[in-house]
Amino acid sequence: MGDVVALPTTEAAPEERPVLVVDLGGQYSQLIARRVREARVFSELVGHRLSAAEISRRNPAALILSGGPASVYADGAPDIDPDIFELGIPTLGICYGMQLMARDLGGAVARTGASEFGKAELEASESELFRHLPPEQIVWMSHGDSVTAPPAGAEVTASSQSTPIAAFEDRERRLYGVQFHPEVVHTPHGQEILKNFLYEVAGVPPTWTPAAVIEEQVERIRAAVGDERVLCALSGGVDSAVAALLVHKAVGDQLTCVFVDHGLLRENEAGQVVDTFSGHFGVPLVHVQAQKRFLTRLAGVSDPEEKRKIVGEEFIRVFEEEAGSLGDVRFLVQGTLYSDVIESGGGEDGVAALIKSHHNVGGLPADMRMELVEPLRLLFKDEVRRVGEELGMPERMVWRQPFPGPGLAIRIIGEVTEERLAILRRADSVLLEEIRRADLYRELWQSFAVLPAIRSVGVQGDERTYAYPIVIRAVTSEDAMTADWARLPYDVLEAISSRIINEIPGVNRVVYDVSSKPPATIEWE
Ligand code: XMP
Repeated sequence: MGDVVALPTTEAAPEERPVLVVDLGGQYSQLIARRVREARVFSELVGHRLSAAEISRRNPAALILSGGPASVYADGAPDIDPDIFELGIPTLGICYGMQLMARDLGGAVARTGASEFGKAELEASESELFRHLPPEQIVWMSHGDSVTAPPAGAEVTASSQSTPIAAFEDRERRLYGVQFHPEVVHTPHGQEILKNFLYEVAGVPPTWTPAAVIEEQVERIRAAVGDERVLCALSGGVDSAVAALLVHKAVGDQLTCVFVDHGLLRENEAGQVVDTFSGHFGVPLVHVQAQKRFLTRLAGVSDPEEKRKIVGEEFIRVFEEEAGSLGDVRFLVQGTLYSDVIESGGGEDGVAALIKSHHNVGGLPADMRMELVEPLRLLFKDEVRRVGEELGMPERMVWRQPFPGPGLAIRIIGEVTEERLAILRRADSVLLEEIRRADLYRELWQSFAVLPAIRSVGVQGDERTYAYPIVIRAVTSEDAMTADWARLPYDVLEAISSRIINEIPGVNRVVYDVSSKPPATIEWE
């Protein structure tokens, strides 16, 4: 991955003593890492092939072994280096992770025929893990195999009706296993169990706070950037905004932000970016008014992929021109998130890589040789938002729903014209106003208007109309991979519909999209 500049860190930084979540192939591995961070403890997801020596080098405060799909005795079942258990690191095995501990530490695992999928009633005895919790509680199970004998020296601390060994612990060696999933919301006391493991068993302090993240990152950015100049492309979205503010806090006016206004933004969006950055935070900002250029290039284009390509290419061209006119700039800020790092398999490199020497990333031209500064590389999206709040970013920007790079161009079916953009922008603005009025904005992953390329007949007054419909799209989702259409209350739909039809000339009908993803996508193009 190119040259990585190792950065100095302060002694007490939470990143120095991470809780490592060892991914054994379970669907909840990333969720475990997030839950640990919600407990204000820094965690990282790592692959299960790390050797005991490699784990030891990372100096973890604790280990959590995730669930996994396989049986521990199956051919090719994911394994860990059993020497890891000899390192003296407090360890919690969850589901498959617990079974692996049992197998490798002198216990036994078998297919008992007593599979459990779903809710189970757990009866727990005295244990640090269940401290301050009721002796009986509901937990979420999902397993075919069961532990039939705990590891040597461990005692059983919980059971359910079909799983006599639902938790075990070796207090002295601080090795804990639970058959159920504390990380899912269906285990109501799950987060408290994780906290008990982290705070009581492992003794890790909850110091991973937005303020600590900011302090640490600011120091790292300063050390890495020195007195060089830095460039950041602002999109109006939360990631680039938080990344820019962190860098600005670290190196002040060495940062220049470039905001390319392609004219495909929503109502007032460009103004908000300029007010917030230039006005409120005093960040040096180049506001490039490139609306005409984009519209000219989009004229006559209807194909969605063609639109994406044009907007992407034109964006780079404009950005390059601006960057060129700024003179000698060494660093480029990129809002890469921890989930991107995990997805690209980069998680195992650890936290050092704030800066990467790079070219041609995110569609930037190959000859634009800048080094990337990625101050959000360690953060999940919700953490980025909390950091944004801590930095004093306005609520509207921090909690903004995702918005696609090509903007309204892919929400106008068919040709993008100034007239059609104006209609969609107004419809979208009405819709968002009503969604906010009903206090639904934060509950929805996205809510927006789409302008199809058809007209239908209507009647207004005594006049027959032949005008556009507006499609309302509102979805709930965790990660945009899947989504469900939101069950918006009828009165909210009614308010949106009547306002759009009454207030926007050229629209005579509103329809609501009731498709989930898959098979539909969230966007229409
Ligand atoms: P779909 O429509 O594929 O969208 O269900 C999933 C998520 O991705 C966003 N999206 C885009 N974001 N450039 C972007 O930056 C794009 O071309 C693009 N297409 C879709 C979409 O808004 C949703 O959040």
